[in-house]
Amino acid sequence: MHFSAYTQILVGLPLFAVASPVPSNAKGASQAQDEKIAPKVFIINTWKREEDIWRNAEGFNVFEKNITIPGLPPQYPDVHCTQDGSVCQVTVGEGEINAALSTTSLLLSTIFDLRKTYFLISGLASINPKIGTIGSITFAQYALQFGLQHEFDARQIPENFSSGYMAQGSLYPGAKPAFYFGTELYSLNIALRNYMLDIANRVVFNLSDSDAAKVYRALYYSSNTIYLPATYSPSITPCDSITSDTWYTGAKLGDAIEKYVEEFTDGDATYGTASQEDNAILAALFRFSINASDPDVITPSSPSNLELVDFSRVILMRAAGDFDREHWGQSPLQNLLYAEQAKGPALDNIRIVGQEIINVVLEEWYFFEGGVPVGNKVGDVWKYLGVVPNATCQCADKETIMAWKS
Ligand SMILES: *[C@@H]1O[C@H](CO)[C@@H](O)[C@H](O)[C@H]1NC(C)=O
Ligand SMILES: *[C@@H]1O[C@H](CO)[C@@H](O)[C@H](O)[C@H]1NC(C)=O
Ligand SMILES: *[C@@H]1O[C@H](CO)[C@@H](O)[C@H](O)[C@H]1NC(C)=O
Ligand SMILES: *[C@@H]1O[C@H](CO)[C@@H](O)[C@H](O)[C@H]1NC(C)=O
Ligand SMILES: *[C@@H]1O[C@H](CO)[C@@H](O)[C@H](O)[C@H]1NC(C)=O
Repeated sequence: MHFSAYTQILVGLPLFAVASPVPSNAKGASQAQDEKIAPKVFIINTWKREEDIWRNAEGFNVFEKNITIPGLPPQYPDVHCTQDGSVCQVTVGEGEINAALSTTSLLLSTIFDLRKTYFLISGLASINPKIGTIGSITFAQYALQFGLQHEFDARQIPENFSSGYMAQGSLYPGAKPAFYFGTELYSLNIALRNYMLDIANRVVFNLSDSDAAKVYRALYYSSNTIYLPATYSPSITPCDSITSDTWYTGAKLGDAIEKYVEEFTDGDATYGTASQEDNAILAALFRFSINASDPDVITPSSPSNLELVDFSRVILMRAAGDFDREHWGQSPLQNLLYAEQAKGPALDNIRIVGQEIINVVLEEWYFFEGGVPVGNKVGDVWKYLGVVPNATCQCADKETIMAWKS
């Protein structure tokens, strides 16, 4: 059955009627909050195949209840929930614009009470063979928006530049940005991330793999051992993620991304996976986050802070479906377009690890309800840099950064 929030808005009925079989006119406004669906876990996927894997999930079925939310992509109009509303799933669409719009629409829909919800962002990504291998499940602390840069066409790159990309306002590749837009970096709750790594490792021996993936990853083996991590079996890998609408490929851009991530964070972050949505989803979640769990006094969110979600409850889990660059002796084009890699096993592994995490959160809600205590800077790039957003000067001087880091 499809419930439509949009229809409810049009006819002017209170929104709680959407989620409740009780006649809407019997309820007062103060009860509306109680009638909201308060998921313990909200799965965020980006496209159809990532959504479909949950049909095989053990312990819960998110297809028991469908709720149409205005603002979701036309091909994915419904949020899916378990009958009791404890687990929900949304497919936000691919690319940064779809992801940001959909997540914003979800948060503003007023159907859900998301203040205690754990968000499990989970989808396919490309992996850096210096960090891990195809089929692996990764958990990030940092997400960086690599695409937000200056770019030269390969035929016009200044001769002494190490790549065609440099941070906005900077003078050469590898330098820090001179100004910030605010979505360049998100930092997540590292204690929660580490807890998720532990849970995921319980099922590491159940990870799916394929013969094609085994053959393919072996091609990254060489006397030059920089890609050695690519040759091991799928694992649970802690590493950071980058976001770009442009689907980058090849060893040269891979190197450029590594340097960017390292320089941007003074070595705090390690480039592991690339996808097209993370910073967009995180931007929406952060914009509407509560700030009560912030360990310091810097106001992290916009003045329109609606305190709809707790940003310290966001989990960024990506599954490596392919490598971000060619193996030895291969062309980047061959790797990008024509190689059978590990999309199938990676999708399977999102479910295998994801269902373990979700079932643990449900079973141990007495622990998770209060949140996993935050011990690090959690939030956006302003928060990370230790400065307040300032429209006059979008800058962050080195001293401020160093002062924060010490
Ligand atoms: C919800 O939608 C999915 C398709 O996205 C469908 O498979 C499922 O049966 C629907 N559930 C209900 C209760 O209508
Ligand atoms: C590249 O050369 C230009 C022009 O000589 C110079 O201004 C710039 O500093 C050089 N950049 C690097 C990264 O060496
Ligand atoms: C993992 O695999 C083992 C043995 O192969 C099996 O007994 C166990 O049920 C599996 N666990 C999960 C969560 O799939
Ligand atoms: C949370 O945000 C509100 C509104 O921006 C602000 O007044 C308040 O000081 C913030 N609290 C903390 C702890 O940052
Ligand atoms: C914003 O930046 C300008 C230029 O550096 C500075 O003069 C001003 O004091 C800053 N405003 C705030 C609120 O920090």
